[in-house]
Amino acid sequence: MSTLASLEERALADLRSCTEEAALRAWKTRYLEGEVDQAVKKIGTLPPAERPTYGKQVNELKKKLTAEYESALAAEKERALERSLASAPLDVTLPGRPVQRGRLHVSTQTLRSIYAIFADMGFQIYRSPEVEDDETNFGLLNMPEHHPARDMWDTFHTTRPGVLLRTHTSPGQIHVMRELCPKPIRVILPGMCYRYEAITTRSEIMFHQVEGLAIGEHVTMADLKGTLIAFARRLFGDQRKVRIRSSYFPFTEPSIEVDVDCIVCAGEGCSLCKRSGWLEILGAGMVHPVVLRNGGYDPACFSGFAFGMGPERIAMLTYAIDDIRQFWANDLRFLRQFGT
Ligand code: DAH
Repeated sequence: MSTLASLEERALADLRSCTEEAALRAWKTRYLEGEVDQAVKKIGTLPPAERPTYGKQVNELKKKLTAEYESALAAEKERALERSLASAPLDVTLPGRPVQRGRLHVSTQTLRSIYAIFADMGFQIYRSPEVEDDETNFGLLNMPEHHPARDMWDTFHTTRPGVLLRTHTSPGQIHVMRELCPKPIRVILPGMCYRYEAITTRSEIMFHQVEGLAIGEHVTMADLKGTLIAFARRLFGDQRKVRIRSSYFPFTEPSIEVDVDCIVCAGEGCSLCKRSGWLEILGAGMVHPVVLRNGGYDPACFSGFAFGMGPERIAMLTYAIDDIRQFWANDLRFLRQFGT
């Protein structure tokens, strides 16, 4: 018992002489984790009769020293904070460092507007691969080998024969038809496409497209017209005039192209619309019977419409952007102009 009393006395005297956090931690190692711990372990070596009294005292000592240590440590931390504030005053009125806020790329913003409009019309998003085979990119879309229409798409071929980077999202039509046949389909297929072209203000080697495909037992040209006119009005505004022209694509019959009246001159004729008063926004048509059959659908029972558009082109028309190279140039002065 007298050892415990002297241990307490020594420990408290030492504790009072500690003026730094490091010294306090050293004190803890020496006493709480050292001598006090030893004293606790001694209980087991005592004759049973002495254990209760000794045990009680040693536990009280431990509790007391722990409490003293904790309050000394808290007091020291408080003093350290005061010392540091006194040596380098903190000015809480200084303005904070500005937080740089990012924004979505103009293409992503355009894609999302397109998704939202078609989602409201019941179209789901279907993803299909960017690396395609020749057969799906061309053959199954009614362009057999050596078909002159293949010249419409300058192609990046890979070193693997027959493997290429898709030149348009239309091969996705084959993937979705083969997966869902014979169910009805109403999807859009967005994604990146690649073309082996000279990069100019009007053409890039990579760009997005959004393909659309609807297949059912009674899908007609009227459905296609209604869908595309509703889409153009929602994207460009209710006042926009929409024009439908006949066109040619190997995978649709009949094929059409859709124009809106020029956003700059409203039809008067300017340099953006090349004096025509109209801007082309997409190609479309009724899915060719050969393509339906390649997708697994019997053209005698099913019909469908398809369309394809370029979001970069649509963004260019919307914001009067005159150089498509801006999209992938990563120039913040350009990108910061779009969105908040
Ligand atoms: N794939 C065509 C292109 O890249 C766009 C297109 C036109 C897609 C008509 C279609 C369509 O689905 O029906 O130029």
